[in-house]
Amino acid sequence: MGGVDYQQLLHDVMDTALRAPERGRPADYIPALAVVDPTAFGMAIATVGGEVYGAGDWETPFSVQSVSKLFTLALALAEGGDDLWKRVGREPSGNPFNSLVQLETEHGIPRNPFINAGALVVTDRLLELTGDAVGAVRDFLRAESGNPTIEVDDAVASSEARHGHRNAALAHFIASYGNLRNPVDSVLAHYYAHCAIAASCRDLALVGRFLASHGVRADGSRLLTRSEAKRVNAVLLTCGTYDAAGEFAFRVGLPGKSGVGGGILAVLPGRGAVCVWGPGLDQAGNSVLGVAALDALTTATGWSVF
Ligand code: DON
Repeated sequence: MGGVDYQQLLHDVMDTALRAPERGRPADYIPALAVVDPTAFGMAIATVGGEVYGAGDWETPFSVQSVSKLFTLALALAEGGDDLWKRVGREPSGNPFNSLVQLETEHGIPRNPFINAGALVVTDRLLELTGDAVGAVRDFLRAESGNPTIEVDDAVASSEARHGHRNAALAHFIASYGNLRNPVDSVLAHYYAHCAIAASCRDLALVGRFLASHGVRADGSRLLTRSEAKRVNAVLLTCGTYDAAGEFAFRVGLPGKSGVGGGILAVLPGRGAVCVWGPGLDQAGNSVLGVAALDALTTATGWSVF
């Protein structure tokens, strides 16, 4: 990737994104998230070679929320292999991320690992495999980013737990079909905690490199086989931004995972990872500025998978 002026590129795509007419609104269904600065905006690119570039609020930690579902999925596959796919599907749901409607007709097998129902099953699997799902995710983020201060924001986790009626309903419903191995309360606690990890664009771009390196970690060891990494990227592309995944593929054309904290982590296969953060969300729960900036990035560079 020699010759690319990443710093200039980031400034240009952020300027383009800021011309978008809409900004969206920060999530407020988790009260602790509503206090975030709505004007925050940052972006970072990390290359597979380990260089990292950033602009704006790229070093400010934010609540990773559903971006963490990408890491629970990768770790559950790394630890436990393909058995996971007996308990969760890999089709886009076409419904909001917190929807309950498909679970009954599909007998407690969530459509994909990124809607909340699927992420609860993946968290349960990781808890079954490691005994500490949130610890596994936190340690992985620390190792890949080289930032030992990455931590769960307990205020966000307990705020979500107090208001998490939908997730509790989903978890109990899944358990009623026998698709949870751990007590519902433990699964929910680990799920809320890994969603409440605070990390910056810099941190997350560095962590995302393992998916650009076909499964190889920052220290050169292998987390996922090449085939598993391809599959995770495929599910990210088709399901990572929920019922806006078609629009995200159309505008951005990269595997990516969004979170209601306003972060989006996207993979540039073979090249690196890019993370953008802007708290204003669209109807589907994806960062408005984030999608606009990634759209501008792939339009300017042609670094789409298509
Ligand atoms: O379960 C929830 O609702 C949140 N902890 C995570 C949702 C989320 O980030 C959806 N992504 N855009």
